Amino acid sequence: MSTLSIFAPAKVNLFLAITGRRADGYHDLVSVVAPVEFGDTLRVEAQVGGGGVARFELECDDAAVPVDETNLVWKAARAFVEATGWTGGAKFFLEKRIPMGAGLGGGSSDAVAALKALNELAGGLLSLERLAEVAAALGSDCPLFLACAPVVMRGRGERVERLATEVAARLHGRRVLLFKPDFGISTPWAFGRMVATPTSYLSATQAETRLAAWMNTPGARAEELLSNNMADVVGAKFIALPTLLALLRARFGVAAQMSGSGSACFALLADDAPVAAMTAAIQEAWGETAFVMETRIA
Ligand code: C5P
Repeated sequence: MSTLSIFAPAKVNLFLAITGRRADGYHDLVSVVAPVEFGDTLRVEAQVGGGGVARFELECDDAAVPVDETNLVWKAARAFVEATGWTGGAKFFLEKRIPMGAGLGGGSSDAVAALKALNELAGGLLSLERLAEVAAALGSDCPLFLACAPVVMRGRGERVERLATEVAARLHGRRVLLFKPDFGISTPWAFGRMVATPTSYLSATQAETRLAAWMNTPGARAEELLSNNMADVVGAKFIALPTLLALLRARFGVAAQMSGSGSACFALLADDAPVAAMTAAIQEAWGETAFVMETRIA
């Protein structure tokens, strides 16, 4: 039986502008998102289906991760079967490293890893275009993980465009420090705060103008791109986030921002960044159990 091992990277939103609420209840956004070298691993072992029905199993090395049908890996498997009529089977082993409720896209990335693995086991039944449609139906943050590169995402997340080579080169390989407090933040709650605070939206025109200005400035630094208009509404309740971000910016001169709807944040690191001192400052503010991980933009 063949076994596949698929890396499921975390992501950071370098630029995130939520531009308004849509008729379907979701939000339109404009975001520059990049995968990082840190992530989960999904091992997938092909199994024979039974009685013409696809069969799946899911195990995870982290007992805190639900392995029932609420896990996006399960939803991905079901969606794949629905889209293809595949009657094979697979056993998934998830090596979970990306914290949950973090805005780092862990669940979405795992789901896309499952889709990629099943499509390979099934001999490529789905085109990349169909995979993107199936991914979009699983979650707004899923399609971006099919690109394996920094992208701009628009719509509710389903319109994904790779950055031009020169623009992507400003991000590739950049060292980043990811850090997250002990608590997670619910994405629907964070979007609910945007709805309750309509002044927090950035217009689509403003968002596109800011993004175009950065893209069209040759050699513009990644630091100049960082912004997230969810940070204020989230920070109004979870003040530990803006407090620490302000401290890191002031003490270490780094560009730092919240990723997605939080609670994880990240800082861009220069080659000589004092990572140990930054880690100590994070753990002093958020406690020893805060998650801290140094990685790079992939
Ligand atoms: O698409 P996904 O299931 O990941 O979204 C989770 C929740 O986040 C949605 O139910 C919605 O409340 C909110 N959301 C949104 N607009 C987006 C993405 C997510 O309002 N573009």
